[in-house]
Amino acid sequence: MNVDQSKPFFIAFEGIDGSGKSTQARMLADSLQSIGYKVHLTFEPTDGPIGKMIRDIFNHKMQADDRTIAGLFVADRLDHILNKQNGLLKMLADGYIVITDRYYLSSYAYHGAHMPMDWVIASNSMAAELLKPNLNIYIEMPVESSLQRVMRNRESVELYETNENLKKVSEMYEAAILKLGSSEKIFRVNGDQEVGEIAKIIREKILELINR
Ligand code: ADP
Ligand code: TYD
Repeated sequence: MNVDQSKPFFIAFEGIDGSGKSTQARMLADSLQSIGYKVHLTFEPTDGPIGKMIRDIFNHKMQADDRTIAGLFVADRLDHILNKQNGLLKMLADGYIVITDRYYLSSYAYHGAHMPMDWVIASNSMAAELLKPNLNIYIEMPVESSLQRVMRNRESVELYETNENLKKVSEMYEAAILKLGSSEKIFRVNGDQEVGEIAKIIREKILELINR
């Protein structure tokens, strides 16, 4: 099947570092494209100026307080949503299915590990008002296995990639999901299985939603 379809739909992949988000986001994008959908695949932190600053902090080239980092993510996300060239709203208006590797749930979980989550949610309220995902896909993975995957391909450890921190982040994902209740659509997938099996579960869920 190869039809020219356009359908604005916004999907956010969530999970701890190494849970398989980038792999699955790419596979979903490829699979939707192969059946004719227009797909825009993107990520946070972005590759814009604020995202680059954030990456310098994670790679220990710059130092910043955890609260400053949380603030930088708010700015990076608003730019991700609003920038006129290829912002999320622009791409959705142009009829793309938009898939992002991380969105505001990441902020709730990662910064909620260092400061009150209510502050993080409030500081992201503009982003949530502007654009909520049609679906958040939360890939669940045990911290130890996730970290093993991350370390297989890495020489250096990023700022938040420690066992202790990611355990807290996992707990904060659960706390955020509980707090948000029905206000946020969340689909949980077990990330501790074969790549193709996870991709199939996700693809079926998305096709069911976009064909509804
Ligand atoms: P994330 O974006 O969540 O950090 P990645 O998709 O980059 O995770 O995956 C981290 C590493 O684990 C990569 O080397 C990737 O090839 C590998 N990986 C991803 N999914 C699986 C899986 N289901 N089983 C085994 N290895 C995986
Ligand atoms: P990312 O490049 O997605 O890392 P990975 O592919 O290993 O999951 O994200 C880099 C780091 O940014 C990651 O440790 C999670 C963190 N992060 C936050 O702390 N807050 C946020 O709002 C987002 C989007 C990411």
